[in-house]
Amino acid sequence: MSLNIVILAAGQGKRMYSSLPKVLHPLGGKPLLQHVIDTARTLSPDHLVVVYGHGGETVREAMGEAGLAWALQSPQLGTGHAVAQALPLLNPEWPTLVLYGDVPLVQQATLEALIAKRGEGLGLLTVQLQNPSGYGRIVRDAAGLVQSIVEEKDATPFQRQITEVNTGIIVLPPKVLPEWLAQLSNDNAQGEYYLTDVVARAVSEGMSIATVLSEGEWEVQGVNNKVQLADLERQFQGRLARVLMESGVRLADPTRLDIRGHLECARDVAIDVGCIFEGQVVLEEGVEVGPYCVIRNAVIRKGARLAAFTHMDGAEVGPAAIVGPYARLRPGAVLAEGAHVGNFVEIKNSHIGPQSKANHLAYVGDADVGARVNIGAGTITCNYDGVNKFRTIIEDDVFIGSDTQLVAPVRVGQGATLGAGTTLTRDAPAGALTVSRARQTTITTWKKPVKVPKA
Ligand code: UD1
Ligand code: CA
Repeated sequence: MSLNIVILAAGQGKRMYSSLPKVLHPLGGKPLLQHVIDTARTLSPDHLVVVYGHGGETVREAMGEAGLAWALQSPQLGTGHAVAQALPLLNPEWPTLVLYGDVPLVQQATLEALIAKRGEGLGLLTVQLQNPSGYGRIVRDAAGLVQSIVEEKDATPFQRQITEVNTGIIVLPPKVLPEWLAQLSNDNAQGEYYLTDVVARAVSEGMSIATVLSEGEWEVQGVNNKVQLADLERQFQGRLARVLMESGVRLADPTRLDIRGHLECARDVAIDVGCIFEGQVVLEEGVEVGPYCVIRNAVIRKGARLAAFTHMDGAEVGPAAIVGPYARLRPGAVLAEGAHVGNFVEIKNSHIGPQSKANHLAYVGDADVGARVNIGAGTITCNYDGVNKFRTIIEDDVFIGSDTQLVAPVRVGQGATLGAGTTLTRDAPAGALTVSRARQTTITTWKKPVKVPKA
């Protein structure tokens, strides 16, 4: 689209009481400004400029440079002054859309409607607020035509009763900006160069002002403090939950779900309360996720069940597998079909073959486990000698007794059994019992101690 977009993000965000710049605070796991940039990009603008503040290098670094231009505004003398800093980076032949870096949830469809409605003139996104205090008011004439925007601090008591307010999101016509911005005055209550003054200017030049009324307050809600941030987070999560439920996912409680990334669900997925999904997560058909699971960058195949308090990062769970409660799958954990991983079992960088089980209290790291293997309680792969890591290979149909240590590199041959308590330092042959443990003896001559009477 032949369009300039300017995102204003130079404000300080004092009320966040944080050393993190306001626009980098996360919403749904993604910085506020990134939400705005992502939405801006859906409009395919030819120029996308972020106006950032003094000391905002961290903001630039966090966003990366790809397809973005940056304009420094220092000092910050108002929204009109902010847009003026971006002017050299814009194409004057195209209209300019202004967005705010701290208004993260504005929707693509709303912006498209605003751009379309502008016609040859100026487009304003407005909203009706029960409590409009703090906002610029939209002043209309008797015929309902917009005359100007008046900031709260400059408004008359009569104007303050207006409940239609300026969201700050505006589309400006081509060519006019250099002159209009240069002629802004800061003769107002705040001593700032208000971008909103261009509205009265456009009217005086006989230009039309089109407005689009935002449907939801959340869409145009800005973030000034952590209360507003938390409110918007719930709004955002609520909308994600709704989309999931509408596509057939059963959520035990849509208000107790957090998605910080992208969650893709097939049919008949059920998710219990308190779960957090981060990064890219795929839940295939019929997957059940128990309460309080934290699942990051994972694929859960058809019909698998994750019991309560399962933690997962960079893992893949095969069809009909059962995981948890209290299981931890770390990066590179891959469970094949029908595998079981139970409570207090940690698996890292390992492949667990079909129908294999590690049901209690085990650590399996850097291992290749075959099919139908049983890993007893307390089994540990000793994969690290303090300097290097080594692999453990456990072939099909192996039975590993409880409390076994496999000192890698080591291989357990097909169908072998390891006796409980074994410390395996050499390969165990296929089909045989290997055990490393002192022989059990009973001392028949032993006498129980008796209490010595006090003198
Ligand atoms: C502004 C609007 C007001 C509107 C309100 C909506 C003006 C004069 N007023 O008021 O009509 O109802 O937003 O929230 O435009 N910023 C800069 N540089 C500056 C000043 C601001 O980049 O010098 C950025 C801020 O980071 C923020 C946005 O512009 O993202 C709005 O600034 P803010 O100070 O919140 O504007 P308001 O006074 O609330
Ligand atoms: Ca504000």
